[in-house]
Amino acid sequence: MPWNSRPRAKLIVMAGVLSVVLGFALPKPLPAQTPENSGRSITDEQSALKDPAIEKRVDTLLKKMTLEEKVGQLAQYSSGAPTGPSTGNPDYPNMISRGEVGSLFNLDSAHAANEYQHLAVDKSRLHIPLLFGLDVIHGFRTTFPVPLALASTWDPSIVERYARIAAQESSAAGVRWVFSPMVDIARDPRWGRIVEGAGEDPYLGSVMARAYVRGYQGKKLNDKESVAACVKHFVGYGAAEGGRDYNPAEISEHTLREIYLPPFYASIREGSVSLMSSFNTLNGLPATANPFTLTQILRKEWGFNGLTVSDWTSVGELVPHGIARDKAGAAQKAINAGVDMDMVSDSYHENLADLVKHGKVSQARLDEAVRNVLRVKFALGLFEDPFTDESREMQGALPTERVEAARLAAERSFVLLKNSVTGGRAILPLTVESGTIALIGPMGDSAQNILGPWAGHGRAEDAVTLRVALEQRAGAGKVRYAKGGEPQTASDAEIQAAVETAKQADIVLLALGEEAAEQSGEAASRAHLDLPGRQEELLEKVTATGKPVVLLLFSGRPLPLPWAFEHVPAIVAAWFPGIQAGPALARVLFGDVAPSGKLVVSWPRTMGQIPIYYNALNTGRPADGYDLTHPPRNSLEKYISRYIDEQNTPQFPFGFGLTYSSLEYSQTEVDSAKLSAAALNANLRRDASSNRTQATVSATVKNTGNRAVDEVVQVYVRLIGTSMSEPVRKLVGFKRVVLASGESKRVSFPLSADAFSLWDIQNNLRVEPSHVQLWISPDSSRGLPAEMDIVE
Ligand code: NOJ
Repeated sequence: MPWNSRPRAKLIVMAGVLSVVLGFALPKPLPAQTPENSGRSITDEQSALKDPAIEKRVDTLLKKMTLEEKVGQLAQYSSGAPTGPSTGNPDYPNMISRGEVGSLFNLDSAHAANEYQHLAVDKSRLHIPLLFGLDVIHGFRTTFPVPLALASTWDPSIVERYARIAAQESSAAGVRWVFSPMVDIARDPRWGRIVEGAGEDPYLGSVMARAYVRGYQGKKLNDKESVAACVKHFVGYGAAEGGRDYNPAEISEHTLREIYLPPFYASIREGSVSLMSSFNTLNGLPATANPFTLTQILRKEWGFNGLTVSDWTSVGELVPHGIARDKAGAAQKAINAGVDMDMVSDSYHENLADLVKHGKVSQARLDEAVRNVLRVKFALGLFEDPFTDESREMQGALPTERVEAARLAAERSFVLLKNSVTGGRAILPLTVESGTIALIGPMGDSAQNILGPWAGHGRAEDAVTLRVALEQRAGAGKVRYAKGGEPQTASDAEIQAAVETAKQADIVLLALGEEAAEQSGEAASRAHLDLPGRQEELLEKVTATGKPVVLLLFSGRPLPLPWAFEHVPAIVAAWFPGIQAGPALARVLFGDVAPSGKLVVSWPRTMGQIPIYYNALNTGRPADGYDLTHPPRNSLEKYISRYIDEQNTPQFPFGFGLTYSSLEYSQTEVDSAKLSAAALNANLRRDASSNRTQATVSATVKNTGNRAVDEVVQVYVRLIGTSMSEPVRKLVGFKRVVLASGESKRVSFPLSADAFSLWDIQNNLRVEPSHVQLWISPDSSRGLPAEMDIVE
């Protein structure tokens, strides 16, 4: 078993203890944060919003604007199906004609957008165009897998392709601003919105964030097919206490910078021209009124000069948060903290002019907010071309290449969690000889559910279910379908009928899971992460037939299902795969393509382990090397960081995913034994172009099985002897590698200074003298590290 890392884990622990005893050289006290050491300003290298010609036009226009017109640019309303608590129906047409609205969202067609745009451009005094937004989360019409699944591909080119298609379709409908990507790090699957992000890792989250921004914004923002990205939710929303949506988050500044901020920084660095503030309080202060994050970090440290928008009524919600007595107070706090545009709450519209007149909001701050809005409108080319050619809007069937792109994304997003060998052969892939198939479960033929939550203008009629795809693939006569009830309710008769169907087949595919719109996404936190309704009962009864069962889990989060993981021979995490769910699953199940997705969240064994994540700190009493499958039997086994009634490890670790072949990793080596901290510090946070390789780590990966596969090879780092406790592992690189049967490849990762950096006690990003361990491994739990040192 080449991957047994236990003996090594003990060594690691010992090394940690040793460092305390011998006292690794501690870095010298550090200077307080200054612009020089706080990370380079993004806008130096990023050009999307640094155009002197635009600045001139913004200045000229600003000079012509009245106070009321300025306030108007900062007001945003939803017109159409609401995506939050509905807040009445203001008189948009007249408000727009008077120049009192800057942005509208949730419209349903290019025609509707054009009608409103005519009011703004033809009737308002200064003819400033509206900016139309929409939540395009994993597709406008071509619905791709949900973002958690897209991230599970570990393939940024897939994400970029998705975002480009989404931009083309959105812009054709008049939408030039998408409220995506959601880059919130999530360590708690109770939180329904874990489905909208890229999981628990800041590095992977940053890579994916950049891919979304590139795809949405294209090469040029004023290209008619480009849309402005809006990175959200700033910040800490994913750390909602207890996983309950909108709940407070407590995150130290250190952890904020190490874990939660990087994907935002990456998005801004990639050029995202807008950002949305979040609902939650962060360390006691609502994020929508937080000058530290919205102004100090975002504007001053990162140099962001794009547009910040609140979340839906989150300005008005400063009242129930208790930091404002009324909407006037809320508006004052939000704008002074750095929120430029008020989404839906009407607080700016009603109060901002007075607040400025009474000196509670400075003219300069108001002007700055308006500038940020206008800058984006100019950059998008809206002043030149405010209308959408309605003939571009998509009608009829989806173009084949978009459908293919959605299928490829789905195929790569599935994670094979278990594939037992029975009778000398793994259950998957299926073969023609697998015989008749019983497809059982409510997710097997539900077009609506496979689209996933927040599916934009996705249509059930575009979605191909597994039932349809299987019948096409294997022949209708070979597939029997039994629904087994609805996801949340089932009758005895429905369950019985499903069991009977199973008995008559040679193999059973069980398609179970969460109801997409109700049980996953916003406002869908769950305290019980089991299979909803009677699906667990259905699963157990069908498995008891003794037929070989493959469980296909449709969900927006990992579900701790201990019985299933023990008793069901094959399990695939299918997430919510989008319109091509059926064909993509059929191709993977029949082995046309091998599964290659890997988990982007740790999969808990039980609810009691949550929050659980791989990049944890080590504690002073780590449990590595101990057998935790039984209660402690002596003091050594007791006084360690553990549960007395459960293992510490997850059911499946971050990065995990099986395929139809076997892989062997060996000879992890790093090309330098020593690096200089000073040299590394001089190279922190450079752009890719100037970011010099500081060390290269390589390993040999061999496909020891008998079919070609894609393998996502991952590289992790641990820093020992640093001024702050560092995670037991941090992902610093990954690569998708294609390996033919029997083929070996040397896989190399050039690492830049950033891979060795940490945020110190004074919140400076630094590289410190330390001992470094580097793993190249198939997931976050295996492998033997290569070692090196960083010296003064
Ligand atoms: C609330 C959600 O939190 C946010 O993600 C979304 O963009 C807005 N509503 C607009 O629908």
